[in-house]
Amino acid sequence: MLFAAVQIVLGLLSLFLSGVLAAPPTSTSGSSDDQVVLGGTFKKDREYENGELPPTKHTLGWIDPRLKGGRLIDYTSDDLGEPLNIIISAESDPYILTEQGMQTYVKSIGFNRECLGLHYGHIHEADLGDGLGRKEEQFLGRQHYFPIMGTCWESVRGGHHFRAWRQNGTDANSGAWFIGASEEMDSSKNHMIVEDGYNRGRNYIVDRATEGSHWKGMWWKANVEWREGLLERGKRGVNHGIEQDGRVAILTIYRL
Ligand SMILES: *[C@@H]1O[C@H](CO)[C@@H](O)[C@H](O)[C@H]1NC(C)=O
Repeated sequence: MLFAAVQIVLGLLSLFLSGVLAAPPTSTSGSSDDQVVLGGTFKKDREYENGELPPTKHTLGWIDPRLKGGRLIDYTSDDLGEPLNIIISAESDPYILTEQGMQTYVKSIGFNRECLGLHYGHIHEADLGDGLGRKEEQFLGRQHYFPIMGTCWESVRGGHHFRAWRQNGTDANSGAWFIGASEEMDSSKNHMIVEDGYNRGRNYIVDRATEGSHWKGMWWKANVEWREGLLERGKRGVNHGIEQDGRVAILTIYRL
């Protein structure tokens, strides 16, 4: 009873804080001064650069979104986005490829759905080249620190989070999850990404997945394949102007 009351108070508090702190429009929060907005020249008009290579065909368990006009950067605005730096291959445990299985799996590696199931902040979109165009994020996971306060605490405190989309439109129906992972500062910084936060967010998940994890009697362990060429290195087109190394971790997660 007391816990429930405490949880509600904390929930409201975090809601209030994120509301207040998110008050300035995203034009000030979503970008830092040194980002380069390339406008119309974003991709089509230039060569593959900074380690990016032309789209690859015949990959097992996922399909390169760029083959059908998608990209491995999501959309936070029309130009900028965050790197989709992890792919959970469809060769993984079929349970994880479902939304419910994904929810269970991410708990095993220390994440939960966001605070009280409420969406705060900006909804990102991604185009996975599966014929569905830009679609809204289908899953948002946040690191949780305390079982009582759960994800509410992380919402205020900052930490690791990720957004996920499933590649399941008819043009590229692989069933793989594409994930944009990052590490955030606390809410007082309006959910800015920490320095090196894209690489760090990705590596945090990869480390936990490859170590192996379990939840309620289910055990998993992932293999990782590091892919270069899907993304360019650096910060061009990247939200908050934070550099990333351009590597994508392809995880195949096996049920033990
Ligand atoms: C694709 O996956 C998403 C996320 O799990 C789900 O909401 C949607 O219904 C799926 N669409 C199809 C056509 O299966």
